[in-house]
Amino acid sequence: MSEFRTGLGWDAHRLAPGRKLLLGGVEIASEMGLDGHSDADVLSHAITDALLGAAALGDIGQHFPDTDPRWSGAESLQFLRHALDLAAAAGFTLVNVDCTVILERPKLKDYRLAIREKLAATLALPLERVSVKFKTAERLGPVGEGRSAEAQAVATLCRSGGPDR
Ligand code: C5P
Ligand code: MG
Repeated sequence: MSEFRTGLGWDAHRLAPGRKLLLGGVEIASEMGLDGHSDADVLSHAITDALLGAAALGDIGQHFPDTDPRWSGAESLQFLRHALDLAAAAGFTLVNVDCTVILERPKLKDYRLAIREKLAATLALPLERVSVKFKTAERLGPVGEGRSAEAQAVATLCRSGGPDR
């Protein structure tokens, strides 16, 4: 019997001039970028939390505190890899991820394949198991006013042998 676990992740970062806009490790051409202690890759952070959540291994801030100088300017794909390694050490393999980036502009759809490919390579998943969606916030709230971006993710993990009792 196999045990399946689903995890949920969410993140938000401010948009600021003079910063890179990185989503899933892919640089997006934009006048504004995401501000934060690391590279502020909001999508990678949401997926990292989804992976940690599915394995009940805490959250991203617990493993990579934003007060730790080691993570200043850090490439967020390494958080994803580390979360995957932690889940693997607990006996889990990743089945799929699905995520949504909520950003008013720029349009992201032309980057969908590049983001999916980067995430698939980082997570050692076939492309068809990595889904990336985009939404505006319909001009509502801080995301809709172009002041921030958000990302949501779900990840499913599988462990063979059935649930521990
Ligand atoms: O938010 P809304 O429903 O208007 O988005 C319509 C479509 O625009 C989405 O399905 C998405 O593919 C695309 N989109 C995009 N980049 C964004 C927001 C939405 O490509 N920043
Ligand atoms: Mg973050």
